[in-house]
Amino acid sequence: MFLSKMHLDNFRSYKDLTLDLPEKGMLLTGPNGSGKTNLLEGVFLLCTARSQRGASRNELIGFSSDYCYVEGVFSALGNESSVPVSIGFNREQRVSMKVNAKQVSSFSQWLGHGMAVSFGPEDLTLVQGVPKDRRNFLDIFISQIDTTYLSSLISYRKSLAQRNNLLANKINDAQLDVYEEAMARHGAVVFFKRREICAAMTPVFASFYGEISGNLERASMEYKPSIRCASDSQKDWEQAFLNGIGNAKSKDILAGYSSVGPHRDDITLLVDEKEARSFASLGQCTTIALSLRMSSVLVSEQYRKDSMIFLFDDAVSYLDSARTSRVFPLLEHRGQLLVTAPSDRQQGVAGLPHYAIREGAVVSL
Ligand SMILES: Nc1ncnc2c1ncn2[C@@H]1O[C@H](COP(=O)(O)OP(=O)(O)OP(=O)(O)O)[C@@H](O)[C@H]1O
Ligand SMILES: [Mg+2]
Repeated sequence: MFLSKMHLDNFRSYKDLTLDLPEKGMLLTGPNGSGKTNLLEGVFLLCTARSQRGASRNELIGFSSDYCYVEGVFSALGNESSVPVSIGFNREQRVSMKVNAKQVSSFSQWLGHGMAVSFGPEDLTLVQGVPKDRRNFLDIFISQIDTTYLSSLISYRKSLAQRNNLLANKINDAQLDVYEEAMARHGAVVFFKRREICAAMTPVFASFYGEISGNLERASMEYKPSIRCASDSQKDWEQAFLNGIGNAKSKDILAGYSSVGPHRDDITLLVDEKEARSFASLGQCTTIALSLRMSSVLVSEQYRKDSMIFLFDDAVSYLDSARTSRVFPLLEHRGQLLVTAPSDRQQGVAGLPHYAIREGAVVSL
């Protein structure tokens, strides 16, 4: 599916905008503050019910309004079928969602008509940020393709919080055991799935990085679980995790928190064998972040049949023109490509219909 039509009503800086979007996508340029990111945010909202920059619903409502409404039509590639979807909300947090002009009451009924992935300068935190940034990336991505992962992750976090609460307060050994068993059971699912997905991403990641860098550099990624286990059996991982928790118990009691588990995992990212977080340049970090997201999209293609909507919000600003020109051809035929750039920085996106924002309106050039 691709987004063929969009209407923004009191959404961010757009009071009333109706836009037809080409199947292939578009390059959208405009000066700083003209509404490029806002427009992509409308697209992301229609696909995920969220903002790609983590904004609250209230922040999405136009300053002079008390509600906003976003409508879109998702169309199937190459044939006539299409699904209109809409979402609206007010400052009292009342949400109204429709599919095919019929009201739906839950997000699960509403979601899933379009899939979007967003790339932006904030993705640099995937490389330069703390381990939690990389874990969040993995968790959001894996949860989208595997619902059992999401439920295990939620259950794991619940037992972890309960154990931490006990550690921070008064210890009750018998109760600790109960939480630890639950942590090991749910945590093993998380470890195991992260390991499987990272293993699938690793060669794809290296290949994307090679292609964007013109094969001048080699990059690698490696999942770093906080326990050691070489087995291919989830049961063995559960046992290894339980042993790890047991070994760390006295240390954890002193520290007042749990030091072992999926909440301490990381991904190691290297460029030419050197830790990217400490040594890579901004352009190299951008190349890593792009390769990470693109490899996640490719891996997720095994789990879903629908094509992706790619949102590139000024995502290549640190890349030189040679690297920039290699990025977009890698995504051709993989879905609709919506790329934004400030007016004077649009190299490397040849082949996409060019639109510009002029006084709040989107015009085709
Ligand atoms: N809720 C809102 N209501 C009205 N206007 C808003 C709202 N939120 C943000 N804006 C305004 O929208 C304008 C455009 O923001 P946007 O982030 O889309 O710009 P941009 O074109 O992406 O700029 P840049 O090139 O700097 O990234 C900003 O000037 C901001 O003040
Ligand atoms: Mg912007």
